[in-house]
Amino acid sequence: MNYSRLAPFYQCIERCTMGSALQRARTGQLDRLAAMTQPQRVLIVGEGDGSFLLQFARLFPTAHITVVEPSAGMVARAQARLRRAGLASERIAFRQEPLLEAELPEAAYDLIVTLFFLDNFEDALMRASVAKLNACACDSAYWLLSDFCLPSRGWRRLRARFWLRVLYGFFGLSAGLSARVLPDFERAVQATEFCEVHRHGLCGSLLFSALYRMPARVMTV
Ligand SMILES: C[S@@+](CC[C@H](N)C(=O)[O-])C[C@H]1O[C@@H](n2cnc3c(N)ncnc32)[C@H](O)[C@@H]1O
Repeated sequence: MNYSRLAPFYQCIERCTMGSALQRARTGQLDRLAAMTQPQRVLIVGEGDGSFLLQFARLFPTAHITVVEPSAGMVARAQARLRRAGLASERIAFRQEPLLEAELPEAAYDLIVTLFFLDNFEDALMRASVAKLNACACDSAYWLLSDFCLPSRGWRRLRARFWLRVLYGFFGLSAGLSARVLPDFERAVQATEFCEVHRHGLCGSLLFSALYRMPARVMTV
């Protein structure tokens, strides 16, 4: 999979197909998060071209952010956008490699961010990614998760199936995505220690935006 060819057009394709809905899904929990905590060590995986990073870096000026993003084209665009906004700084580090190959510290991050990332994988890789991210999260960490979803029935389900077929077809051809169906990442995250704090649907339940939190672990002797 490689998103570099798409990187220059990514924002334009998004705006033409979904308007502002994806950005609203990405940022839909930020005010709630800011009211609950000021994350200091943040891991953003599959950030893409910087749409979220820019807004996040502005809102959380003291956060140290590690971005794991294997696409050179996406990294270049995200870095250029940060520079233009005067936000490029040492507190934002880019790791240009796939998540499962990245050497990341365990129990280190107080916020994990995965936005339209877990939908890229078939079930086994998605589960391995969730397990790795869970291991990277420290006690009481938060997890910001936004993505597509498949409503359980009705016209919304038919509509979501149509869109998912179009999107998987398009990203299969343009980015070499091998996944063809939406994996159940919400269930995978819920099977970790993380518990849902808040979740809302957007675009007639085609998208969702969710905030999870890991309860503080009780030490026993
Ligand atoms: C569908 S795009 C989503 C980008 C962005 N997060 C958004 O909200 O639009 C998926 C992103 O995940 C990145 N990606 C793909 N495989 C990855 C991996 N194994 N580890 C980390 N990032 C990956 C891609 O390069 C791409 O930027």
